[in-house]
Amino acid sequence: MAGPDTTVPARSRATIAARTLRTDRWWLPPLLTTLGLAAFLVYATIRSFLRVGYYDAQYHYLSPFYSPCLSDSCVPGSSHFGTPFGELPGFIPLAFLSLPFLLGFRLTCYYYRRAYYRSIWLAPPACAVAEPHAKYTGETRLPLIVQNVHRYFFYFAIAVSLVNTYDAIVAFSGERGFGFGLGNVILLGNVVLLWCYTLSCHSCRHVTGGRLKNFSRNPVRYWIWTQVSRLNTRHMQFAWITLGTLVLTDLYVWLVSTDVIADLRFIN
Ligand code: FES
Repeated sequence: MAGPDTTVPARSRATIAARTLRTDRWWLPPLLTTLGLAAFLVYATIRSFLRVGYYDAQYHYLSPFYSPCLSDSCVPGSSHFGTPFGELPGFIPLAFLSLPFLLGFRLTCYYYRRAYYRSIWLAPPACAVAEPHAKYTGETRLPLIVQNVHRYFFYFAIAVSLVNTYDAIVAFSGERGFGFGLGNVILLGNVVLLWCYTLSCHSCRHVTGGRLKNFSRNPVRYWIWTQVSRLNTRHMQFAWITLGTLVLTDLYVWLVSTDVIADLRFIN
């Protein structure tokens, strides 16, 4: 005897002319994301080419947008790693060695990808809002398949974070020897948060715990992976916070080095 028919009839999508039936302000998050990213890009681009107020000779504060400074065009004292390069024309940023990798690291970051795919490419801009594109190929072909280089940018980001850490340590020794001011707090805070962002990267999770068949036989890697995974849950927050701390750090060095404000000193 034949049983009951359990097949579910196939349903096609409802034909809705409207792009969405949502009546809330679904457009606000993508708009804020676009504005936030654009503001940072404009500021970082202008500052990277300005070549003014990036190093305070008295307290040895160096802006992260100019680190490492490796050419004869850098102001005296700002080249913590020497000057293997000669004079650079004005259209080349003084941190030409680190900026492309940092930009690549952020552009291909899983979180930023999500952010700008939704907010700038509108693919899709929000839940239950149709995207304007006719078809979706995702990251399966050129040009977006290039996003896979993110795992390699991660290693460069580690190197740049080490350089920034060195800059922050050097800043404890000013013209008058050891000293400690608000600038040190800002430089140090920026570096700590940059490490949080870098180590919370999804590629870092894979580096620390990926390809393991058995965690119990690798307790050290398991422990590291667990800590990285904890950080990873806050990756989006670190992505935004570090954009802010980078701008704050650069702005502070700019204002102090051009004598617009005086550094608040706690020691020496
Ligand atoms: Fe964001 Fe790697 S996923 S930096």
